[in-house]
Amino acid sequence: MDFVYLKKDFARLYGNSEDSRIFFAPGRINLIGEHTDYNGGFVFPCALSFGTYAICRARKDSFVNLASANFPEKVSLDLADFSYQMADGWTNYAKGVLHELISNGYRIGGADIYVHGDIPNGAGLSSSASLELLIGVVFDTLFGCGIDRVRLVKMCQKAENQFMGINCGIMDQYAVGMGMEDMALLLDCNKVQHKYVPLKLGNNKILIANTNKRRGLADSAYNTRRAECEAAVAALRQRLDINYLCELDPDTFERNKDLINDPTVAKRAEHIVYENTRALEAVSALEAGDLLKFGQLMNASHISLRDLYDVTGAELDALAEAAWNVDGTLGSRMTGAGFGGCTVSLVNENKVDEFTQKVGAAYREQTGLTADFYVADVGGGATEL
Ligand code: GLA
Repeated sequence: MDFVYLKKDFARLYGNSEDSRIFFAPGRINLIGEHTDYNGGFVFPCALSFGTYAICRARKDSFVNLASANFPEKVSLDLADFSYQMADGWTNYAKGVLHELISNGYRIGGADIYVHGDIPNGAGLSSSASLELLIGVVFDTLFGCGIDRVRLVKMCQKAENQFMGINCGIMDQYAVGMGMEDMALLLDCNKVQHKYVPLKLGNNKILIANTNKRRGLADSAYNTRRAECEAAVAALRQRLDINYLCELDPDTFERNKDLINDPTVAKRAEHIVYENTRALEAVSALEAGDLLKFGQLMNASHISLRDLYDVTGAELDALAEAAWNVDGTLGSRMTGAGFGGCTVSLVNENKVDEFTQKVGAAYREQTGLTADFYVADVGGGATEL
């Protein structure tokens, strides 16, 4: 990121860049444990070294001015009175966080803010959680609120759920808020507790492949999947005292799945229960240095998301399946919500070029689309720079 340009842009918008401060919040990938977060299960994400930057300065009045290098919408809002407006585009994510801060009693004032993101938009790498945590940390710091980080993470999730109307789980905001360099987080979404696990990948790299097929969470099948999981819990509660699918181990699930009459709902539940176990197995494999096993579990996760949870789609399948055929690939799977977005693959560092060539060509042939590839650098959580 070129901070000189950022400062020039800020000065052009807001008069000068004296006393301005720079903040950063990362994007994220999830290595395994998909759609388990809202089922009270385990996820295993990490923060990326690319993300969203803000250059900003506190104001003496109650106006928040928001502008971005990435989007045309600009707003000037009064903290005393603002609301969601469709026409305000990306700024609504910021408004959602401001709304949370104010309704939790934090005393914040106005600010001039210019945002620049380098996360490919709509790629499922959590550009929205990145923006939410960025705004959260900016106001927390500028106005000395001293908000506990996990509390801020939860407020950002609530902003997305209630202000934006997107019923996401806690994984994205948690990874963006709590990420650490070269570490993945094993997050227990029921207890909302994590442990850091060093990403000891030997001579392998994590490769992100972007389908470049836009995905939208709100208008996708995401909320339907949540409802299907709730229907499975309701059916299982006829015999079992559970609140979440991830309270079940595979054996208990197998013994009781006859309670679920709807075959689609049964498939969704099967994915969740086994994916949760896979996430824990994958972390043990990584800790034991068994990267082969880690890769196999990644593949099994993709297959389950494809066949049981039905959230992959032709593009993600084409990328993952092409990756499985490349020598030097230990594992490959979709990451995030699905329905487009990205895959993550564990690839021998000497095979990275071959991987991008072969997977890129196979993908183009099958879908007519061009994929983008990035080597994932695992960075830290949202912070002032
Ligand atoms: C999206 C949501 C997360 C999580 C994933 C699927 O990224 O925002 O909360 O549910 O999908 O694992």
